[in-house]
Amino acid sequence: MKIIHSIQELRKELHMRRFDKERISFVPTMGNLHEGHISLIHKAAEKADCVVASIFVNPLQFGAHEDLESYPSTPAEDEAQLIETGSVDFLFRPRVEEIYPVGQENHTIVEVPNISDVYCGASRPGHFRGVATIVCKLLNIVQPDFAVFGNKDYQQLMVIRKMVEDLCLPVKIIGADTARAKSGLALSSRNGYLTPEELKIAPNLYKALSQAKEAILEGQADIKGIEARANQFLEQAGLQPDYFDICNGKTLEPALKSDQQLVILAAAYLGKARLIDNIVVNAD
Ligand code: PAJ
Repeated sequence: MKIIHSIQELRKELHMRRFDKERISFVPTMGNLHEGHISLIHKAAEKADCVVASIFVNPLQFGAHEDLESYPSTPAEDEAQLIETGSVDFLFRPRVEEIYPVGQENHTIVEVPNISDVYCGASRPGHFRGVATIVCKLLNIVQPDFAVFGNKDYQQLMVIRKMVEDLCLPVKIIGADTARAKSGLALSSRNGYLTPEELKIAPNLYKALSQAKEAILEGQADIKGIEARANQFLEQAGLQPDYFDICNGKTLEPALKSDQQLVILAAAYLGKARLIDNIVVNAD
């Protein structure tokens, strides 16, 4: 695995790989890697000859009062984990000045309308603008055939899919299953903010999602009632729900009876962490 800091050097390396007819897949991350990230690397390796991973904590997607300064950074462990997969050819780890040489304020942005403004976008104004901008930029730097993202960040994946479609970017976006702890808790770099006590409470987010899914599959039609019960369950468990919404799996609009695929999106505060998770419900 070669570690590269500059856009120019990465481009040169990938140009040679493309010349050799290798297909390239790409996994962007913000580091502090866990099994979820590593599962994306495995998926990327299944698809292509050459795998590029990136680690870049993108300041543009953090709000003014969010955890940019304290976002966990474990560069040596990350490198070791990526090497251990035996699948990563290049780790792109640029500095902020390499990505935003003109400064963040003066940088062109990519804005994916509507879908960026709801759920996590409502609680984190500007977040998805930052995500779309960095992902667009990274895709242009790497120019991969495939790029792999986690279903865990369902709304993020939808924003990226729409951006790729709207801007005709020549890349296939692949979604990967959510890696979970035995307790059901979705793995996340931000789980590191949880105390041992909070770690016992956190799995209730997935429990609430699973219960709501079950209620839908049992035929309960009262969407608002299911959402209200889930919010109540979360509060009683010690979580502070941000949102818990049953939505159309493609548009993320509020669910209608006629929808074939639903997704339940949820976010909740717990101590210093804001946890997000989701569950897909297929009507058959
Ligand atoms: P980060 O939170 O580091 O996540 C990188 C990728 O790992 C994303 O595609 C995310 O959905 C996926 N991921 C996180 N937890 C996962 C889990 N438990 N199971 C499976 N996949 C998981 O998401 C970002 O970084 C950034 O917004 C980024 C896309 C890199 C843009 O800056």
